[in-house]
Amino acid sequence: MKMIHLTDTHFVPKGKTLYGGDPRANLERCIQDINTNHADADLCVVTGDLTHWGEAKAFASLKECLDELKPPLQLLVGNHDARSAFSKCFPDQPVDENGFIQSSRDYPAGRFLFLDSNKSGQAAGVYCDTRQAWLERELKEAGDRPIYLFMHHPPFHIGLPYLDRIALVQREEFADVIRPYASQIRHLFFGHIHRPLSGNWLGISFSTLRSMNHQVWLDFNAKKDIPASFEPPAYAVVLFYPDRLVIHPHDFMDTSQKFSLSKSPVNDWAKRSWWSR
Ligand SMILES: [Fe+2]
Repeated sequence: MKMIHLTDTHFVPKGKTLYGGDPRANLERCIQDINTNHADADLCVVTGDLTHWGEAKAFASLKECLDELKPPLQLLVGNHDARSAFSKCFPDQPVDENGFIQSSRDYPAGRFLFLDSNKSGQAAGVYCDTRQAWLERELKEAGDRPIYLFMHHPPFHIGLPYLDRIALVQREEFADVIRPYASQIRHLFFGHIHRPLSGNWLGISFSTLRSMNHQVWLDFNAKKDIPASFEPPAYAVVLFYPDRLVIHPHDFMDTSQKFSLSKSPVNDWAKRSWWSR
């Protein structure tokens, strides 16, 4: 099974820019690259912050773009999104019995759980008792299938104070729900961080990516304001095998020269051969 992970598209109404960047132009290039190279993907998941201010016009612009995407699409909401505007624009995206934008689906690789950690008007994530009860039920009903989790907010601190302040609020409660299933959960995909990050939490591997517009610059000295940059956006190609998960992040807007390693583009030390040493 092959999946595409992208995150934090931060759309604004068509024709507008965001911090001087153009999220729509970047996503259009991203979709073009996916359609050219990974039209065979079984799924494309966008892990939230679909829009920057949650307006209907921003969602409409996003929908126009995503309608061009060839692989099947799964959307999550983030702190920048608004549930009602989202559901009006994407009525086909599943909602749980309590109105949260979360769902469960069984794929050949296992059970995929798409969570909703949005609380309107706040940057930090919320996973309330109602959502925790839903998650507990879905985990239990997975039986012996492998489980993959998708959410917008990381459910733990990552060591950067300016991002840890806006992590998931119910970290302890969330960990308590997850812990009994930790050995069955193969990976956790999230967004929110706007930079590449991977590691391990409760024995569960995790990863995230740069956003489609502005990024967070790695600065361990910054305390309050979030340091930003325009490092290029990325998407990830995720390959699921019975015994492993492989994630290939791709800087699809990279403009550096592409060449074959067997043919150096310049006459330099790379031209030496094994027998000339
Ligand atoms: Fe974001």
